[in-house]
Amino acid sequence: MSLPKDFLWGFATASYQIEGAVDADGRGPSIWDTFCKIPGKIADKSSGVTACDSYKRTKEDIDLLKSVGAKCYRFSLSWSRIIPIGGRNDPINQKGIDHYVKFVDDLLEADITPLITLYHWDLPEGLDKRYGGLLNRTEFPLDFEHYARVVFKAIPKCKHWITFNEPWCSSILGYNSGYFAPGHTSDRSKSAVGDSAREPWIVGHNLLVAHGRAVKAFRDDFKPTQGGEIGITLNGDATYPWDPEDPADVEACDRKIEFAISWFADPIYFGKYPDSMLKQLGNRLPTFTDEERALVQGSNDFYGMNHYTANYIKHKTGTPPEDDFLGNLETLFYSKAGECIGPETQSFWLRPNAQGFRNLLNWLSNRYGRPKIYVTENGTSLKGENDMPLEQILEDDFRVQYFHDYAHAMAKAVSEDGVDLRGYMAWSLMDNFEWAEGYETRFGVTYVDYANDQKRYPKKSARSLKPLFDSLIKKD
Ligand code: NOJ
Repeated sequence: MSLPKDFLWGFATASYQIEGAVDADGRGPSIWDTFCKIPGKIADKSSGVTACDSYKRTKEDIDLLKSVGAKCYRFSLSWSRIIPIGGRNDPINQKGIDHYVKFVDDLLEADITPLITLYHWDLPEGLDKRYGGLLNRTEFPLDFEHYARVVFKAIPKCKHWITFNEPWCSSILGYNSGYFAPGHTSDRSKSAVGDSAREPWIVGHNLLVAHGRAVKAFRDDFKPTQGGEIGITLNGDATYPWDPEDPADVEACDRKIEFAISWFADPIYFGKYPDSMLKQLGNRLPTFTDEERALVQGSNDFYGMNHYTANYIKHKTGTPPEDDFLGNLETLFYSKAGECIGPETQSFWLRPNAQGFRNLLNWLSNRYGRPKIYVTENGTSLKGENDMPLEQILEDDFRVQYFHDYAHAMAKAVSEDGVDLRGYMAWSLMDNFEWAEGYETRFGVTYVDYANDQKRYPKKSARSLKPLFDSLIKKD
């Protein structure tokens, strides 16, 4: 027994991935609605139009959470349901607010602690059109602060807030590779607009400032009366040197994490970008004004960690191309000695390696002064799952094993290494819209039958977490 008594565990989802009902109750379009309509962007040509139909099935989802013993649920709000065009002078949609207020009330009634993500990639389309969305250094942070204030005021019963989910993905996938909405890239065969060498770093900076603004608003005007805590969720993979004997590979391992995580976490904990990034990117990395730095530094009550996989890292020599975002290195699944990082899954980027999780928890804890950490996402897809017969899908032993191994690695990080971990949310409560991969890649502990009225069937893994956490959480 090694996790603290009040350790929260449960599941996570995100609005555009599960809600559907894109026109219901006055919702405005988001950049993902628009992106999905561009031919070639989504693997199975799908979109979030229906998804899991969760907007209309809140009761069913809460019953599901209860039936598997979840103590908490992390979900995100659709900004364009609350402010359809998005901006601080635009109309507010009371129906959108009411929906989430009731959802939180119902969760609490069921004794499930809500954790709300304010932004999980579905920017109101209106803001992208009006001023370039995340690219706008002045307008975007102000509009995000306003949206956050509307939500803090409406949902005082929520005590755990996450400003942004994976700003790395918004920046790099949205503005470098163009793999995610709004699809900007320098590759003109994929997009008419974009500058992969510059835009991602601007977007990352603006997301940090917007985070800082929302946190300040929360701390000044809401936290004193309603309590609660707020932080950001960052994604990052574990790293192992391709050749442990080569100091340049060992160094590249840290650099890889710095380019993924410390890009955001260093400004939040130290008020500056990592030296390795400044060295490679020079003045393409924006400079914090004094006001911006004051907003960003010290703006995490907790660290939200999304984690799935690991890579072997091989350093590169020579000058990196301008659009490099990894830190002049290669990410590999095999080491120099031929060891494999982990078995294949349905996701091209994901191979389980639970020891990497423990290592990365330690890395973060050491670098950032032992912050309070919530694992806000962790989970896996399964190779070929979508093509299996239902009976086989429901026996997802591979996923059961993944959660077992990762939870045990995490428990060791707490009891043996002293990492301050407070919660864990499995990704995901149910199969859902896996962004550019559409519905073919499934991450759920619950199978969703998209062809038959989105009917839900809990897989073996759905029921595996309660006994797993019961065995790891201290009783008194
Ligand atoms: C991270 C993202 O936050 C989530 O939206 C996505 O579905 C999972 N990773 C799996 O790729």
